[in-house]
Amino acid sequence: MLKDNLVRVQLSPKGEFAAPRPWAVTQSDEAWEAKAITVEAAESAIVIKTEQITVYIYRVPCRIVCFDQLGQSFAEDWGQGMAWSASGVSAWKRIEANEHFYGFGERTGWLDKLAEQKTNWTTDSLDYSSQTDEMYQAIPFFMALRPQLSYGIFLNSTFWSQFDLGAQQLGIWQMQTQATELDYYIIYGPEPAEILATYTELTGRMPLPPKWALGYHQCRWSYESEAVVRELAREFRQHRIPCDVIHFDIDYMRGYRVFTWHPQRFSNPQALIAELAEAGFKVVAIVDPGVKYEPEANYAVFDQGLAQDYFVRKADGVLFHGYVWPDKSVFPDFLRPEVRQWWGEQHKSLTEAGVAGIWNDMNEPAINDRPFGDPGEKIWFPLDAPQGPPEAQATHAEVHNLYGLNMAQASYEAMQQLRPQQRSFILTRSGFAGIQRWAAVWMGDNQSLWDHLEMSLPMLCNMGLSGVPFVGCDIGGFAGNATAELFARWMQVGMLYPLMRGHSAMTTARHEPWVFGDRVERICREYIELRYRLLPYLYSLFWQAATTGAPILRPLLYHYPQDAQTYNLYDQVLLGPSLMAAPIYRPGVEHRAVYLPAGTWYDWWTDQPYEGPIHILASAPLERMPLYAKAGAIIPMQSVVQSVEQAPEQLILRVYPGTGEQTLYEDDGQSFDYQTGAWCTTTYQIREQGEQLILEVVDKQGNWTPPLREVCVEFKGNLGQLLTLHTDLR
Ligand code: GLC
Repeated sequence: MLKDNLVRVQLSPKGEFAAPRPWAVTQSDEAWEAKAITVEAAESAIVIKTEQITVYIYRVPCRIVCFDQLGQSFAEDWGQGMAWSASGVSAWKRIEANEHFYGFGERTGWLDKLAEQKTNWTTDSLDYSSQTDEMYQAIPFFMALRPQLSYGIFLNSTFWSQFDLGAQQLGIWQMQTQATELDYYIIYGPEPAEILATYTELTGRMPLPPKWALGYHQCRWSYESEAVVRELAREFRQHRIPCDVIHFDIDYMRGYRVFTWHPQRFSNPQALIAELAEAGFKVVAIVDPGVKYEPEANYAVFDQGLAQDYFVRKADGVLFHGYVWPDKSVFPDFLRPEVRQWWGEQHKSLTEAGVAGIWNDMNEPAINDRPFGDPGEKIWFPLDAPQGPPEAQATHAEVHNLYGLNMAQASYEAMQQLRPQQRSFILTRSGFAGIQRWAAVWMGDNQSLWDHLEMSLPMLCNMGLSGVPFVGCDIGGFAGNATAELFARWMQVGMLYPLMRGHSAMTTARHEPWVFGDRVERICREYIELRYRLLPYLYSLFWQAATTGAPILRPLLYHYPQDAQTYNLYDQVLLGPSLMAAPIYRPGVEHRAVYLPAGTWYDWWTDQPYEGPIHILASAPLERMPLYAKAGAIIPMQSVVQSVEQAPEQLILRVYPGTGEQTLYEDDGQSFDYQTGAWCTTTYQIREQGEQLILEVVDKQGNWTPPLREVCVEFKGNLGQLLTLHTDLR
């Protein structure tokens, strides 16, 4: 028992536990402080009680079952309970009536995973669909939800593992892993928010990103030369479409050699990036793990890595190689701290040119993607390849799932060292539980298809429910050509993604906001502008995610766990607690059913109020994504800027009648000064008092002073009522 709502279960068939592998869990068992625990050892069972739950451990047969304070059981061992064999360990538990399953890291398909099987093994999941199992990310965590009770399970195994949510046996869920010991945590809610708070205490939280990373990112494989990038930046400003970030894909490199610049196409990256900075753009550069195998060619990264023996070798000592963009490639062993440090130092070639963010790709790792024809043979990473420092060596089988996580850690720490005064942005494709500590995550190579647009919301919501709040999908779809209509709808949805990045693959048609004609350009501008107008609200959500583990994009069940109507509602999302979107994700559709849970909701566009719970039919011509604000919402907004570093002239509080509270978080958005007190929070409250609505500042904390701006209050809804403003709202 580690905390009132946190239980760790370990089973070792050998009778003793192996030395701990603290790869995913940031807190040792001793660091937790469980309060007022009582332990009773009776003949049939050991009973452990905390202020929140009671755990029974029956002796014969050995079974574990938890109870909440109402006496409702959960995480109850069922069927065979626990078992082990030569190939691994397993546990079986009961699925309660009305129980549904969420999280599981990166998953295609819809929200609830009941009756499905989910494997945890990081894979270059090119061409994925709603049926795909193994994805780029492997996060062996989920939550089970039923009205009044939810609990989380974190299977603390980096080996191959699998959850079966009643696919094989109705009413029983199973977890198995190819590890020699069973090690898992049970986290009691009762609500998803509490599970996530504890799960992220266990595996860590997202550091606060630079504010510019919340702006719009433009990417393509590739903007292949300085001239193309310059033109792109010019177009954004000319079209007056806000944009903060331009990504450089693999063509900035010399022959795909990581940590090099192409001598002709990017001959003066410093000058280019400085020019972009003048126009308010930051640059993020891609970094792939595969190092070109190139003996005696004066390629320093290969030479140094080889000389210091930093690349993974097979069990027989032969250098392991795969084939990726640079053709034959070798792979650094990121599990070793000195390799991460060395790799980190290589980032200097990018930061010296002014790069402010790193995009880690192909780090599952991908070993079979080659641009120069496929010789037919498929390569596998040998599972017995030794990895890690000599004193804590592991096999690839044990640490395969950590490859992306360790690489992202190397990039994160490198940027902290190389840009110590400024926050950097790290993006990764692959990761494991705890990846939120090091990087934002995008969902890899999606396609320009309506069902990929549709799937993006449940995918990102399940990532949020797995402790990873800073997530996005490629807007417009990576592979294939979006139609104008698909692109417009995708930009509307993309405005809701915590990471808002447009990206497209080589050989596809261009996907910039202005290439689909005036009408779509207007729509893109309007929704990107809306994103920028919402920045004060969004940044406050990022701060909340960084401090509590709460997701930014949330499925409705997160706030309405008592309302079973929300359990399969995958196509509506909440952006924080106050805004709810019901996007269109089908061609030719201009109306859709929207579920509004209990309470009053206001149409964002018309201010019309609705009393939930209710289903309504929303009108949604191409220009409109149905959007609703909750009664009592106070949404901090700002005037439109073209990039985050431009100071907005106004702070706008958009206020809806009702009772509610909103804390606005502010700091300089770029340095680490917030860690030493240079931040401020302002808590606004709205309440009804007799005939009046009262809006006031109820709390102010911190000692950062925001730049002078005009504060405007926009009252929405029924303004027949009188509104009083108390105190200085600034
Ligand atoms: C991979 C990435 C994609 C990138 C491409 C070229 O497919 O997922 O985003 O553009 O590689 O680097």
